[in-house]
Amino acid sequence: MTENAYAKINLFLDVLRKRDDGFHDIKTVMQTVSLCDKVDVTATPSEKTNIDISVHNASLPLNKDNLAYRAADMYLNEAGITADVKIVIEKNIPIAAGLAGGSSDAAATLRAMNCIFGKLTMNKLLEIGLRLGSDVPFCLVEGTRLCEGRGEIMSELKTPVAHLVVAIGDDRISTPLAFARLDDEFLSEDGKLQTGGDAAFSLLMSGLDKGEIVYDSLFNAFEFGIDKTAKSVSKIKAEMIFKGALAALMSGSGPSVVGFFADKLSAENAAKHLLSLGYFAAYATTV
Ligand code: C5P
Repeated sequence: MTENAYAKINLFLDVLRKRDDGFHDIKTVMQTVSLCDKVDVTATPSEKTNIDISVHNASLPLNKDNLAYRAADMYLNEAGITADVKIVIEKNIPIAAGLAGGSSDAAATLRAMNCIFGKLTMNKLLEIGLRLGSDVPFCLVEGTRLCEGRGEIMSELKTPVAHLVVAIGDDRISTPLAFARLDDEFLSEDGKLQTGGDAAFSLLMSGLDKGEIVYDSLFNAFEFGIDKTAKSVSKIKAEMIFKGALAALMSGSGPSVVGFFADKLSAENAAKHLLSLGYFAAYATTV
């Protein structure tokens, strides 16, 4: 059973409030894109559970530190089954990039396990997903969604057509540190953060109602102060604009950057240009 595990980008991402459980309430428009990992799962019932995981193209932990491993384990526990599970991941999405690669692999594993065993409802998968990570519920359902809470309160939006380049340099950013940096800058005594994203949100939503992206409206609060932690972000953005991007925005807590282009050819040319400069770059569309 092979599942595509699509990367996600954020067309809008704001952090609204620090919660008592250590997480933050966010407000984000997430979008799956065609750049994807392939997750192949085979599973047969057996007396004792054994999960074997292998990864092509990347070095990742092959035990409980791997989200896909944990997803399979949690699925079996919730379903009350013991099984021999083999997971093979072909990794194409950059790791720790703000593209939800690990979350998407976990979501694909849950979907594949449920195709094989058919034991759990979608609501149960979403619940397990949230225990695995904040982006996993969205990765389970895919498409274009307004996501609130930690990301699990989702409403479906029209999917806009877009020609994209997803790119990243050598910088990497820790998600908890990215949240902490925003707290330092924007957190007020009532626990709320005022980052100034409201106008951009209204503009984006008015376009998405018609299935269009208003490029002036793209907003990601995590871009604040990013030059101090990941210099590659503004460099990549500048190269994308130089190659004709209509807009360029960091994805998630970074440091991957997404460029939006008028057509496939200009996006592919920009991707080639970024590759020649030594960055990872891939053409992608919205899916
Ligand atoms: O849910 P996930 O494992 O992706 O979260 C990693 C870390 O990022 C959390 O432990 C938390 O510090 C931070 N985070 C947050 N609010 C969110 C999502 C993540 O503070 N909505």
